Amino acid sequence: MKGVTTEVIAEVRQRAGIVEVISETVVLKRAGKEYRGLCPFHNEKSGSFYVNPEKGIFKCFGCGEGGDVFAFLQKAKGTDFIDTVRDLANRYGVRLVESVEEKQHYDRRAQFFALNDAACNYFTELLQDPTGGATARRYLEGRGVSEEILKRFKLGFAPNSWDGLLRYLNNTMKVSEATLEEAGLVRRRAESTGVYDLFRNRLMVPIMDDQGRVVAFGGRTLGDDQVKYLNSPETPIYVKGQHLYGYHLAKEAIKAKDAVIVVEGYFDAISLHQYGFENAVATLGTALTEQQAKMLVRYTESKRVYLSFDSDPAGVKAVERGVETLNQIAEGVGIELKVIRIPGGKDPDECLRSEGGQEAFARAMETAPPLIDYELRQALKDADTSTHTGRLEAAMCIVPILAQIKNYMVRGEYIRLFAMEIGAKEDELSHSVREQIKQKTKPFRQENFGSSAAKHMRNRGTVGTPGSGGLAGVLEAERNLLALLLTNREDYSQAFPVVMDLTFNVPAHKLLKEAFQGVGDQFATVQDLTDRVMDRAAPDKAAAAALIDVILKVEEFRKQQRPSEVVIKDSFARLIKERLELANRQMRAQLASPLPEDELIQLQGKISRLRKLQDSDLPTASSLADLNELALKIDEIFGDSAGVAVVNH
Ligand code: CTP
Ligand code: MN
Repeated sequence: MKGVTTEVIAEVRQRAGIVEVISETVVLKRAGKEYRGLCPFHNEKSGSFYVNPEKGIFKCFGCGEGGDVFAFLQKAKGTDFIDTVRDLANRYGVRLVESVEEKQHYDRRAQFFALNDAACNYFTELLQDPTGGATARRYLEGRGVSEEILKRFKLGFAPNSWDGLLRYLNNTMKVSEATLEEAGLVRRRAESTGVYDLFRNRLMVPIMDDQGRVVAFGGRTLGDDQVKYLNSPETPIYVKGQHLYGYHLAKEAIKAKDAVIVVEGYFDAISLHQYGFENAVATLGTALTEQQAKMLVRYTESKRVYLSFDSDPAGVKAVERGVETLNQIAEGVGIELKVIRIPGGKDPDECLRSEGGQEAFARAMETAPPLIDYELRQALKDADTSTHTGRLEAAMCIVPILAQIKNYMVRGEYIRLFAMEIGAKEDELSHSVREQIKQKTKPFRQENFGSSAAKHMRNRGTVGTPGSGGLAGVLEAERNLLALLLTNREDYSQAFPVVMDLTFNVPAHKLLKEAFQGVGDQFATVQDLTDRVMDRAAPDKAAAAALIDVILKVEEFRKQQRPSEVVIKDSFARLIKERLELANRQMRAQLASPLPEDELIQLQGKISRLRKLQDSDLPTASSLADLNELALKIDEIFGDSAGVAVVNH
């Protein structure tokens, strides 16, 4: 248990105030006994995130995320439970009960932090050394890096010596060669005994974690070394893909500007900070990982992410590699991805340092196209649309990209535009895109890293069992219809008349329907609508609980990008099937205890009308108007006998 006992957990929970801890990442305002803020776990404009210090819990009524102080930190920082407790214990001075091995493991991490810190001091001091650091300082000067910036980024210099750092560390700390080696600061000699400095005659760029602790180094050659950057190997405190260069220095600006700029190079990030774009971070030369993508949006509300990668082939590749990851995450939390295209194919650092570069970069940011545009252009770069096969190929390249666009009006626009561009027929392109969407959404798509909502659904076994029988079908169908109202504006306007036409069977859903009716179209965003419905539903416990389920569904729908017509049709199919089954059961039951004649006729009528709905009306319904009419018919048949389908909720 790494020193974490139940006593330790209780003690930490008591000492670490949840409001205090959460306040570090979320701006909280007092709201009665609770505190309210913008949820850091999903995209929202109005605060549905509540912290209750009395109960020691937080809860987001937007995305359903909730839990105690540990759950918050786990989720926010991506750490596991034990490490979360340990970190908090250290901060709040709670002593851990640990075995010798455990203590060693943690002391070891602390040792690595201390070693890197000491090494960083050594390098920065050397850079400031009037004689020793002169070359490196001249180099930085030549690149236009200001004194202030090089201090802020703790840039340093590793001299051309085999044992400078080694001796320095031996003098200042008691540490074995093996540990230094494991920390990635020295290397073992191949033939003889002993170790030697890894970084020699290099400009040192320390990589820090989100708390500003040095975890690794990138060493840029100052000579003509083949290896431009020599980087620390992975160590117990440095795992590639878990850090973003400059992150801790960018945090505040990311919050303030509500946007983050992602670049590839250390020096691109450094220059951006120097020229006032302090919300910039660098990816450390690899494709973005899921964890990095999450870090990117942790501090933004609107979740605007600007990618500014080199326009050389490698940079383009990096964008492409990062795109999949970012897109997946973007769908979940509503990231707005844009690609900054710097005129003249310069990298950000070059651009900024050139004449009028600062303005040019700012303009490039303002006019940054959405990632989708960028991707489409990129996909068509080598397209030859002068031949039939060329056009077909071009279409094949862009169909999957077009299918990613959730909003169908926007999608339609793009389809129109690009059909024209590649000389394809609009309706054919549109058809292919729809096919692609169908394929993508048919089997319930499992997210690579489920949101808690999706996990929640999985745990409850509802995901993957779309056709689950029993009366649960009514519950599901009604819930899906309600969820459409909250997915986005477009779905709302399509589903609203349908929902209003239907009589819901589940009592809690009835209340929710009334709440939606009460709000009407007096809302700014679907989040706003969610909040208002929540306010109205709150007094009724069952309704509030049902709303949470609806909200969870919303998140799933957003990920799946299911067109609302499909959801509506699907829900109707279930409602009809369910009600038909119910009527058939009543029919069988009446064999044992016969119904009065008029009731029997009524029941038979119902069954035949439902059969007709199931067999002809539903399959042929193709427009929203058809669906609306269908809603009225369903309601006509079963609306008044609402109480019949008793659903336990
Ligand atoms: N990189 C690396 N190892 C290399 C080359 C690059 O780790 N041999 C990583 C570094 O994180 C570097 C990034 O990839 O910052 C982008 O590479 P590049 O554009 O070449 O680096 P810059 O930071 O722009 O360096 P400079 O401007 O000094 O050329
Ligand atoms: Mn560069």
